[in-house]
Amino acid sequence: MPAHVVAIDQGTTSTRAVVVDHDGRIISSGQLEHEQILPRAGWVEHDPVEIWGNTREVIGTALSRANLTRHDVAAVGITNQRETTVVWDAATGEPVHNAIVWQDTRTQSICDELAADGGVDRFKDTVGLPLAPYFAGTKLKWLLDTVDGLRERAGAGEVLFGTIDTWLLWNLTGGPDGGVHVTDVTNASRTMFMDLRTCRWDEEILDVFGVPAAMLPEIRTSSEPYGVVHGSQLLRETPVAGILGDQHAATFGQVGFAAGAAKNTYGTGNFLVVNTGSEIVSSSHGLLTTLCYQLEGQPPVYALEGSIAVTGSLVQWLRDQLGIITSAPEVEQLAAQVEDNGGVYFVPAFSGLFAPYWRGDARGAIVGLTRFANRAHLARAALEATAFQTREVLDAVDADAPVELTELRVDGGMVANEALMQFQADVLGIPVVRPVVTETTALGAAYAAGLAVGFWDGLDELRDKWREDRRWEPAMEPAERDRQLRLWRKAVTRTFDWVD
Ligand code: G3P
Repeated sequence: MPAHVVAIDQGTTSTRAVVVDHDGRIISSGQLEHEQILPRAGWVEHDPVEIWGNTREVIGTALSRANLTRHDVAAVGITNQRETTVVWDAATGEPVHNAIVWQDTRTQSICDELAADGGVDRFKDTVGLPLAPYFAGTKLKWLLDTVDGLRERAGAGEVLFGTIDTWLLWNLTGGPDGGVHVTDVTNASRTMFMDLRTCRWDEEILDVFGVPAAMLPEIRTSSEPYGVVHGSQLLRETPVAGILGDQHAATFGQVGFAAGAAKNTYGTGNFLVVNTGSEIVSSSHGLLTTLCYQLEGQPPVYALEGSIAVTGSLVQWLRDQLGIITSAPEVEQLAAQVEDNGGVYFVPAFSGLFAPYWRGDARGAIVGLTRFANRAHLARAALEATAFQTREVLDAVDADAPVELTELRVDGGMVANEALMQFQADVLGIPVVRPVVTETTALGAAYAAGLAVGFWDGLDELRDKWREDRRWEPAMEPAERDRQLRLWRKAVTRTFDWVD
């Protein structure tokens, strides 16, 4: 058996490929950013062809940095930004439109129209999600409504739909006749079309959206051989054997296999996922009910999720749109120049507000400004926004989930920021715990692929690989915590009702 697994992590801002060894260590990686296409306010697109090209390139980089060939790779796993929607020509592989990214809010009016009959929770019992532009369903409807002749072509099987996992798998496995057209249960659970109980597409909902079933991928488990890499590619003949949406992969990489396990990932946005085992828990506090993962031949495992749209991407915004820092890590130094936020609160409702509010009418606000405030206060307020938003999601989890969280496992890029992690523990009032490998998203995809081909024996073997790196205990006085939370919540209300 070859000694490595390759994981592809296709995220919102960049694409990574990592090589994982049998001990669960990441021994090499390649990474490329792709263009964020912002055609107008609220619209966010990616070029699927660029993403596929970058994927091929980073696989090559990761392999060559470790001095490996395809003979050293037992399997490939895919993890991806979820909900981002691609439609392409089944014969040529050419996308019919740019990918519509999960952050894109163009379909708010479609959501409003659908909600007019039955409210935003019209499909929630079946799919676990409220009607919101975030999910793939209304993005696909927008494409079918907008691109000339697309619905007819979809009905005739001439064009295919996929989230990014499906797009990459189809290309990786594709020869002249195209590749395998498959998604996994976790990605399917973010479309609005999958019945959580059966893990099948729901025909009634497809009818309401006007989506021809012929264009949809087959739903499979998160860990099974889907096909092999096509002969024209670097990893030719290697089985592709794991697919998990990135937040589900991070949960898997944190070995959150049992009911009650939870993790919070700090990426472009923040996503807190709590494993609820075989139980489908319906939230009454703004959490999503979603798939956690499903292993081949086993029943699905479910989760509750608190999704926050903007956390890390706010730092990017400070760099790219405001220009007050020149690189993302600089934000930590800038924020450290001041002792506190100077009364400034920054609510980054750029895509409306996700959990726990689900307000499509919200837009970003910076409040509490006085002449005293400077760019360091702004940087600090931006970082603190991540911690406050996480606290609000944790409150929802405590209200909804069968078990109360006593500590929070964290991962993702921003957890390198020690000051933020301390502030996070302060604001939560429970310890925050960081593992040695913080790239749990890629690790989870590698685990899923490796399990499917017998590279690892089972979940217990994986569980033993998790190691704690650091733990932050809450140190803030409860009265101060309450004061800050009160101001934060007041700031949030200032973002409501901003769309005419
Ligand atoms: O639901 C969106 C999420 O999957 C995006 O994750 O890591 O690209 O911010 P990330």
